[in-house]
Amino acid sequence: MQNLETEILGRKGKLTLILRGIKDLSDEEKRTVGQLSNKVKTSLEKEFEHKIKELENTSIEKELGKTFFDTTIPGKTRQLGHIHPLSQVQEEVERIFSQMGFAVMDGPEVESEYYNFEGLNIPKDHPARDMQDTFFIQSKEDQSHGKLVLRTHTSPAQIRTMEKYGAPLRIIVPGRVFRYEATDASHDATFYQVEGLLIDKDISLSHLKGVMAQFLTRLFGQPVKVRFRPGYFPFVEPGLEVDFSCLLCEGKGCRVCKHSGWMEFMGAGMVHENVLKAGGINPKEYQGWAFGFGLTRLVMMRYKIDDIRLLTNSDLRFIKQF
Ligand code: DAH
Repeated sequence: MQNLETEILGRKGKLTLILRGIKDLSDEEKRTVGQLSNKVKTSLEKEFEHKIKELENTSIEKELGKTFFDTTIPGKTRQLGHIHPLSQVQEEVERIFSQMGFAVMDGPEVESEYYNFEGLNIPKDHPARDMQDTFFIQSKEDQSHGKLVLRTHTSPAQIRTMEKYGAPLRIIVPGRVFRYEATDASHDATFYQVEGLLIDKDISLSHLKGVMAQFLTRLFGQPVKVRFRPGYFPFVEPGLEVDFSCLLCEGKGCRVCKHSGWMEFMGAGMVHENVLKAGGINPKEYQGWAFGFGLTRLVMMRYKIDDIRLLTNSDLRFIKQF
């Protein structure tokens, strides 16, 4: 406050300088400006005096003296939360794929039947629909896109991204998916997946093998091998089941991998030309592969969690271990 006073009223203060300048004005101006500035000066001086006294009277010591206040009592610590194991692993997956040049995309959880099924080469009467029975939203049927459903997989984001960005493309799509499913230790009606899609010229499955081996090796911090087996998914041709070498026995065979040396990991394949077409991409010019794995299952494998329900039931005794 005193500093402010000197700044305005002091020897070199702003107001003092104005007052000094009065002598250069005409007689008429001198009178009005002089009178006004004197008024301002006296009222400011009064205000400063008043305020400084008031502040002196309300010093902290005086305030504290009024009531007893023990300044030595330790403060209350707030409990800090932390990132959920599912999000921790999701962030790591995103980081590793970003470093390999993949963009991280998102898609809606409430999806149209078209994007969830037809666009992915799963027509209405196709038996593959039974594998992914789902929750329908009460909604009007849209002529071209059907009803609304809770997406059963992250694959619909493939079509949406192709439509929006065209080729070439390199994306992953982590996200929550839903199935009409009875819950038990390894099944839940809500879980998380990561979709991958790479579209470019001269792309083959060997690129997929390299990318997945690199991804898993970085994620687990130990050398991991990948193997392909034939599999069926309507949106890829050929379709694959992808396994990785057991982390515990490194492929030799143990109880965890049921003595096979391999862990089942994900579905993948070369993107079906109907899917490329649905995304507005010319299959004669571009090709690519796609994959989808369960993020929830990956978290369970990584931390050896034996019941999927632990990940969503908010039991702090469980959550605090991560
Ligand atoms: N969407 C499949 C599922 O939820 C997983 C999957 C399989 C995704 C093969 C793909 C793929 O992109 O090529 O079971």
